[in-house]
Amino acid sequence: MPGPMRSAITGVTMFHPSRVVTNKDLEKLVDTSDEWIRTRTGISERRYVDEGQAASHLAVGAVEQLLRQTDTSPEEVELIVVGTVTPDMLFPATACLIQQQIGAKKAWGFDLSAACSGFVFSLATGDQFIRSGKHKKVIVVGVDIMTSITNFEDRNTCVLFGDGAGAVMLEPVSKTAELGILDTVCHIDGTGAEFLYMPAGGSRRPPTAETVEKKMHFVHQEGKQVFKFAVCEMANVTEEILARNNFLPRDIDLFVAHQANLRIIESCQKRLGLPDEKVVVTIDKYANTTSATIPTCLATAVADGRLTKGKLVLITSFGAGFTWGAALVRWAY
Ligand code: UT7
Repeated sequence: MPGPMRSAITGVTMFHPSRVVTNKDLEKLVDTSDEWIRTRTGISERRYVDEGQAASHLAVGAVEQLLRQTDTSPEEVELIVVGTVTPDMLFPATACLIQQQIGAKKAWGFDLSAACSGFVFSLATGDQFIRSGKHKKVIVVGVDIMTSITNFEDRNTCVLFGDGAGAVMLEPVSKTAELGILDTVCHIDGTGAEFLYMPAGGSRRPPTAETVEKKMHFVHQEGKQVFKFAVCEMANVTEEILARNNFLPRDIDLFVAHQANLRIIESCQKRLGLPDEKVVVTIDKYANTTSATIPTCLATAVADGRLTKGKLVLITSFGAGFTWGAALVRWAY
């Protein structure tokens, strides 16, 4: 009998569409400026899908890369958890479409709706299936096609988002190795639902000509409210997960926060007292890709050599719901 196990991330990928949209491009659509977007959000450019490209397509791009990176055959995959709020369709689950497209014949899976915390919640979920001993290869995907729910006449929201996907492989490691996902924390608070949501398209307001006319199938956000909660709760949950694992903020080697606004990330950084070199920023290039921001940061940090075996990584996110959470990871490869 093997001893107690935890899960380790054994590979990470990101996959973004090739079409780059700059702030200057958006100046042609709404009354905005490159200067406003850069200074208020930290975003310079983002990627948009072409017509016909859906969540499953970007996810498959990320997952195929992941299978190659981790030398895994599709038949070995046992579970696919997909964090997304922009599935190809309300049903079937995007997980089914990915499973079919990659040929993971023995896998099951499901979609998980937690908005910008989709990846962290999916990671926490996948982690449990490894810890329980139920599975040995779990793929966790974060994917969102935010352009599919963006109102390109609303300057308050349309400059903020991009499309993207990312994926990680989870596999068991012995707890004695002191590597892998050390802990996860997830929170929700439905009193925040009114500040960031998509009013129609669900069972409360099924799509009608009127809901389309009123642009109710797009993201609605009260930015200032969300901003305040995001700063407060990402810093709180970081302190919570560190404290219960007997770490201090200075023990963090790499801080990977959801990329919604550079000012939010910097406020958390300041509260935690972290130097710039420990903070991963990808919002400048990809904007807010909702569930895809965290794997995008992790894949970027692996590629540029900042994330190597033994590094202590603090992952945190905040999103619609409200949802927020954290994962404490000792990088395993
Ligand atoms: O990912 C899920 C979680 N989401 C977030 O964490 C987002 C959190 N919120 C934010 O990041 C920020 O609140 C925003 C970036 C959305 C907005 O920044 P802000 O500093 O809170 O700006 P604001 O909404 O208070 O707007 C300030 C001004 C307003 O003009 P007035 O009323 O002062 O004349 C806006 O109309 O900026 C104006 N404005 C813009 N101006 C140029 C809003 N959007 C734009 C724009 N271009 N795109």
